[in-house]
Amino acid sequence: MIRILSALAGIVFAGVALVAFFMGAWTFFSEEAVHSPDHEFHLEAHGPEGGFSFDGPLGKWDTAQLQRGYKVYKEVCSACHSLKFVAFRNLADLGYSEAQVKAEAATWQVPGIDPNTGEATTRPGEPTDYFPSPYPNAVAAAAANNNAIPPDLSLMTKARHHGSDYVYSLLTGYTDPQTFAKDGERLMEEFPEFTTPEGLYFNPYFANLNLAMAPPLTSEGQVTYDDGTRATISQMSKDVAAFLTWTAEPKLIERKQTGWPVMLFLIFATALAYLAKRQIWSDVKPKKKA
Ligand code: HEC
Repeated sequence: MIRILSALAGIVFAGVALVAFFMGAWTFFSEEAVHSPDHEFHLEAHGPEGGFSFDGPLGKWDTAQLQRGYKVYKEVCSACHSLKFVAFRNLADLGYSEAQVKAEAATWQVPGIDPNTGEATTRPGEPTDYFPSPYPNAVAAAAANNNAIPPDLSLMTKARHHGSDYVYSLLTGYTDPQTFAKDGERLMEEFPEFTTPEGLYFNPYFANLNLAMAPPLTSEGQVTYDDGTRATISQMSKDVAAFLTWTAEPKLIERKQTGWPVMLFLIFATALAYLAKRQIWSDVKPKKKA
């Protein structure tokens, strides 16, 4: 009985697998390729020339760069984007002293309560406070941005494929759709009806090519760097992308560095296991072939 049942189960299973296979093959061959602007003209994100200092297994933070990136966030992006998972005290990671963190926190206004009346007010930030949101609520955020809510940036580089590269590409990628071409094909020739609606901006790195964020970095020197680095658009984009990589994964470098001892330990353990195996089986002679 059990045999018949298992045979039946096997037949049903194989049948379902076969049907699924043929249906998949059918859609694969019969489906027409999607023909749409965002499908054909979207660009893959790429990092800055030379990559980031934290790329690769031996990567490291460049703290001077993180400090510059923080300044770009503070002076440009924070007008619209919050950073709600980062506290001012975390800035100590960027190489600031305790006193500097305290002074820096105090340059921000965070929501507070008037001690006499209990009314909501603002007060200077403390190291334990988190970065404040630029808008009191989502409705205000949408109203100020053509109905799009600027997303929180704390985890942005983890929320997008190749996030650090993506932020860099997005910030440097704004261009004119009229002249935009990919692989030698002009967007406006392929899709003459393509438009960028009023209040949106064309950017081929954004998934549907038009987004509600006006180009935030538009001129060299928009941020004045304290360390004398030339603040080109590409440099500011790279620095803020690095800073946002840190906010999303502050332990990135520690994680990479823990990897090395672990790998060494595993290699050592493998060698040990091999030697133990030889020792245990040493008095068993291999069978001679007849
Ligand atoms: C004037 C307001 C404003 C400023 C300033 C601004 N942004 Fe934005 N940003 C937006 C809005 C609005 C969106 C949502 C766009 C959409 O979904 O169409 C957005 C979206 C984004 C996104 C998400 C894109 C995606 O894939 O969903 C990133 C990343 C981003 N901004 C980074 C930055 C950085 C970095 C800065 C500073 C250099 C900055 N923004 C400055 C308004 C702003």
